[in-house]
Amino acid sequence: MTAAPLRLGVNIDHVATVRNARGGQRPDPLRAAQLAIEAGADGITAHLREDRRHIHDDDMTRLKEAISKPLNFEMAATEQMLDVALKIRPHAVCLVPEKRTERTTEGGLDVVAGRDRLAPFVDQLHRAWIHVSLFIEPSEDAIAAAASLGAPVVEFHTGAWCHAIEVGDLTLAEREFERIKRATALASARGLECHAGHGLDYETARRVASLPPIVELNIGHFLVGEAVFVGLAESVKTMRRAMDEGRAAAAR
Ligand code: PXP
Repeated sequence: MTAAPLRLGVNIDHVATVRNARGGQRPDPLRAAQLAIEAGADGITAHLREDRRHIHDDDMTRLKEAISKPLNFEMAATEQMLDVALKIRPHAVCLVPEKRTERTTEGGLDVVAGRDRLAPFVDQLHRAWIHVSLFIEPSEDAIAAAASLGAPVVEFHTGAWCHAIEVGDLTLAEREFERIKRATALASARGLECHAGHGLDYETARRVASLPPIVELNIGHFLVGEAVFVGLAESVKTMRRAMDEGRAAAAR
């Protein structure tokens, strides 16, 4: 099977985290977004949090106006965020949990218990021609609930897998990877577009790139952290290469 091209969405939230640590304008997340695009990013992801701890409203506006690639707006399902998204009209919105009551133990959006509350958000974004994705854990129940909500995209939370690798629990890591693999097959069989993200580094991105149904990875913290040592253009280029190598190995 030939896998579809794999897009890299670069999340620039933590450029804003550094800016906000001092206040003022620098480093500018828009400059980071433009640099990431020049280095090979296929899109830019930014999360407008309810407490505005990193990205601010006018960052989203500036990103939407200035970048040459799609903007993926991550947000909690609240009326206030919906108003901002409908005003900015990004290419895509990824609904993510912010409050503890909205998330599962693994950190994904609780689409099973929250189904009725989420439905009007998916519907209104959809009617505004915004591509909606739901950030869910790789489970069958979550996939079924996401499909019943009519969202065209699911983004699988890779945090549990990446964390297991980080703490050296390789048995758990393999189990988590198998869950992601199975979830991508189930979701794509239901016609859902599959994305993945959270906690990815070069090695985990390379591995997850080998799963043919996944067409987009959203990666932020690691790339911005590496940028301190090698520069953002270099960390994005190295990530792009790792993803392409993982994808090519899967096709062989
Ligand atoms: N995808 C989603 C939906 C996210 O909320 C985030 C940020 O938390 C990411 C991807 C990127 O995660 P990270 O910064 O760990 O790479």
